[in-house]
Amino acid sequence: MQKIRKAVFPVAGLGTRFLPATKASPKEMLPVVDKPLIQYAVEEALDAGIEQMIFITSSSKRSIADHFDRNPVLEQELEQRGKFDLLDMARHTIPEGVSCIYIRQPEPLGLGHAVLCARPAVGDEPFAVILADDLIDGGEQSCLGQMVDLYAKHEASILAIQEVAEEETSKYGIIDPQTLYERVHQLRNIVEKPTPLEAPSCLAVVGRYLLTPNIFDYLEKIPKGAGGELQLTDAIARQLKDHPVLAQEFQGKRYDCGSKLGYLEATVEYALQHQNLREAFKKYLNSLLHEQKI
Ligand code: G1P
Repeated sequence: MQKIRKAVFPVAGLGTRFLPATKASPKEMLPVVDKPLIQYAVEEALDAGIEQMIFITSSSKRSIADHFDRNPVLEQELEQRGKFDLLDMARHTIPEGVSCIYIRQPEPLGLGHAVLCARPAVGDEPFAVILADDLIDGGEQSCLGQMVDLYAKHEASILAIQEVAEEETSKYGIIDPQTLYERVHQLRNIVEKPTPLEAPSCLAVVGRYLLTPNIFDYLEKIPKGAGGELQLTDAIARQLKDHPVLAQEFQGKRYDCGSKLGYLEATVEYALQHQNLREAFKKYLNSLLHEQKI
């Protein structure tokens, strides 16, 4: 079996839902407590054994490359001040030996096009795609880690899915599932952003994919789809006609950090798990309750 060594992070999108915060800085750099969303995504990839991070970027996303690079001025300053914990944090946004590749997506032509831009760096091996605005707390094992384990059994493309409310189907790729066993389904079809009436189920793809490399051949051939963009979902819909594609209902909780509400939910829950903040933050939330502000 070919090991999953590479992860693609499509980060070229504009993030209009967070304007004005995302006017000059990428939505993937929005922090949840003290780490930017993109760092959670990279940590999930590392946890799943990924060794090479491939970022599909655009002109306004330079700070992502800066974040995973060394910052000699900051490091020197922290060293001189004896702030060694902070120095360690600043130095190790990515472990040594893990490589980062940055590829520009010249035009915002859609998620499918962004993934296709990664082809020269991925080559002929299975790979992961992580959408950083879906923050997933997998609990004991990360979502991508769970998917890598399933890949070892089936060696097929795998999508992370979760059930959504009927009125939400038009925000997601929705699958038509044939259940294989608990939490694992084979796709009979997949549709991008269907209305509730058109949706084949309420099982929605969230931002984690493990894809076999033949997906690139399908991406090359698809026409523009929903929203006038090249959709990854449409390439998967073609792939599943020739090769089995699976969907996994992962264990854990997903926060839609592409929406303000989901982002706030993540912030509150991650703060409640944060070692140094937990107690003070709980106290603060309780005081709000007491004052009947919530
Ligand atoms: C993308 C995909 C969609 C998927 C979603 C998960 O949509 O196209 O199939 O369900 O991510 O977050 P976007 O949120 O970029 O519109």
